[in-house]
Amino acid sequence: MNQTLTPAEPRPTASLFALISRDLDEVERLLQQNLNNARPGVDSLLSHLAHYKGKRLRPALLLLVAQACGKIVPAHHLLAAVVEMIHTATLVHDDVLDHATVRRHVPTVNALWGNQASILLGDFLFTHAFHLSSTLGDVRACRIIGEATNRLCEGELQQICRRGQLDLCEDEYLDIVDAKTAELTACACKLGALYAGRSEEVIKRLTNYGRALGVAFQIADDLLDLIGEETLAGKSLGSDLEQQKLTLPLIHLLHHAPAEQRLRVRGILEAAGNHKREALLPELRASGALEYARQRAQAFAAEAVAELACLPPTEGRRVLELLAERVVHRDH
Ligand code: FPP
Ligand code: MG
Repeated sequence: MNQTLTPAEPRPTASLFALISRDLDEVERLLQQNLNNARPGVDSLLSHLAHYKGKRLRPALLLLVAQACGKIVPAHHLLAAVVEMIHTATLVHDDVLDHATVRRHVPTVNALWGNQASILLGDFLFTHAFHLSSTLGDVRACRIIGEATNRLCEGELQQICRRGQLDLCEDEYLDIVDAKTAELTACACKLGALYAGRSEEVIKRLTNYGRALGVAFQIADDLLDLIGEETLAGKSLGSDLEQQKLTLPLIHLLHHAPAEQRLRVRGILEAAGNHKREALLPELRASGALEYARQRAQAFAAEAVAELACLPPTEGRRVLELLAERVVHRDH
């Protein structure tokens, strides 16, 4: 396991977000202001999150949608911070579930402080997110965020209940992905459009954009778990196989391979030991299963882009289009 502390390369998304860079700065300010605690111990856990800074994809989506819809207002900044807090909470919990030791090029909270502190830190982030959203004084935001997080947790529960069950089909996998990842990206886009004062129809189209983009993102993320490099990704990889969480390439292989190959693949998955990735990669490559998943991700990204036709051709819309392409072609 490579536990590099080398910082990530400058992120290609940074230039894409130039249009909203000042707004993202304001989101950072709100995150710092709201995730500040002087109590010993709590302050160290929260300080560690400064190293945990990721692509800020979800706040950027919310702000870009707002921009493409005509106007960014202070409620957008606050909600972008809320969405990022929820996302970070889910990652802190997810790393416990996945026994991950590296995230964003630094040791995970569970690797440094253990599972108990990680669960509580995730809860802390989650409750702060809800408290912050309530300060808007608008029940609509709380309801939308509550609905999204209900479904997000449902997706994680569904995933854990289906762990190790090798009959998982593509539709159920997509349902899990839709819940655990796409629900939050859809929520970010919905909030962006709603608080820009757009019509029901436009809000619906942009929610669809966020959902399709989220599915494309997670399929690409699952591909990365199989074929990525930990030094580039900056996080523990291969955990889906180790945890027997089936993702699209493997589902495709298990449903389309000849009986003999299926038995061999099942044997590798069910065997003890942790070299499943090395053992399965040649089978996944040769069968075209990786390529199939890549194409499915591209199709969802194209679906996302099609939803943007409801918006005038502005720079904001163009960045949203590019973002949909970018999420499927990435190495971290
Ligand atoms: C990443 O999956 C994880 C998610 C998209 C959601 C995780 C959600 C929970 C654990 C629900 C409970 C949390 C709260 C606070 C509501 P992944 O393992 O495929 O991605 P990775 O490669 O980045 O780890
Ligand atoms: Mg994980």
